[in-house]
Amino acid sequence: MSDIRTTEIKAGDAGAAERGARCLADGGLVAFPTETVYGLGADATNADAIARLYLAKGRPAFNPLIAHVADRVAAARIAEFDADAGRLAEKFWPGPLTLVLPKATTCDVADLATAGLDTIAVRIPAHPFAARLVAALGKPVVAPSANRSGHVSPTSAAHVRSDLAGRIDMIIDGGSTEVGLESTIVACLGRPRLLRPGGVPRAAIEAALDATLDDAAADAAKPLAPGMLASHYAPRTKVRLNATALEAGEALLAFGAKVVPGAERAVAVLNLSERGDLSEAATRLFGHLRALDALMATEIAVMPIPHDGLGEAINDRLRRAAA
Ligand code: TXA
Ligand code: MG
Repeated sequence: MSDIRTTEIKAGDAGAAERGARCLADGGLVAFPTETVYGLGADATNADAIARLYLAKGRPAFNPLIAHVADRVAAARIAEFDADAGRLAEKFWPGPLTLVLPKATTCDVADLATAGLDTIAVRIPAHPFAARLVAALGKPVVAPSANRSGHVSPTSAAHVRSDLAGRIDMIIDGGSTEVGLESTIVACLGRPRLLRPGGVPRAAIEAALDATLDDAAADAAKPLAPGMLASHYAPRTKVRLNATALEAGEALLAFGAKVVPGAERAVAVLNLSERGDLSEAATRLFGHLRALDALMATEIAVMPIPHDGLGEAINDRLRRAAA
């Protein structure tokens, strides 16, 4: 499965969405940009294509996929919305929010994509290319992040290429992704629960619901989102969090204008945001982790990052990178 010819095209090329959709309709695997991270798409109704997708990523098939749809009508065909889900969809779609909902009886997404669960994860992406691609196929597109299972999510076509070239049919290059973190996942199966912090901050969701969000049980052995195992998003280099001083041989992932003692002898320094902006930090996080990982430093030391807004999701990913 590692000798497939991977075609690369630009999202801006004429007819790129139609070419991508044709490849998906033929059972192909197409990596494409979304506003969060690059997704690896397959026709959600094609079990063979989904089986190839799990294989290409090296992803265990008990870990279900997100179905991306073009609009609310298509979403309602595959999932059941209660009042909370309706409110969140109204407020945040299209955008970086995924809802886990009961599967509708009319759902035509292959069971393999939902790992046999009676729930389904659904999202309407905001990225104009992703929206065009899904609309052009006219069916839901399942798309996990376009990385090898367990690796850091890709925020550029180059990241996708380094993980999946030769294993998938097409990479569509739409430049760097805007949000840089995966979607926030909220389950609306009774009281709304946060399964994964992500591109929409918790506070925005709580404001829309006019209620506080329950957290998924912090039992890492039996996560509610099966993909949220403690060790995930992992660089090969060891990651050390909340670094306030640098040790010999370390690379530094900095945040803000403060200079930590020892930084002058760092193997390399990359700053998530010199001005301390959490959106900018989110956009740069995975790219900087990949770049520092390539240096063979003894460790990647990460400066403390505030926990508010997108900081919750950034710290979540860093904790997993360090696990
Ligand atoms: O931003 C994103 O969400 C990106 C882009 C491509 O849309 N996709 C993404 O997919 O991050 P993935 O497969 O890397 O992460 C999806 C997560 C996994 O942790 C999976 O276990 C969880 O969603 N999930 C999917 N279906 C679920 C379900 N029915 N119940 C609970 N968790 C589910
Ligand atoms: Mg992923």
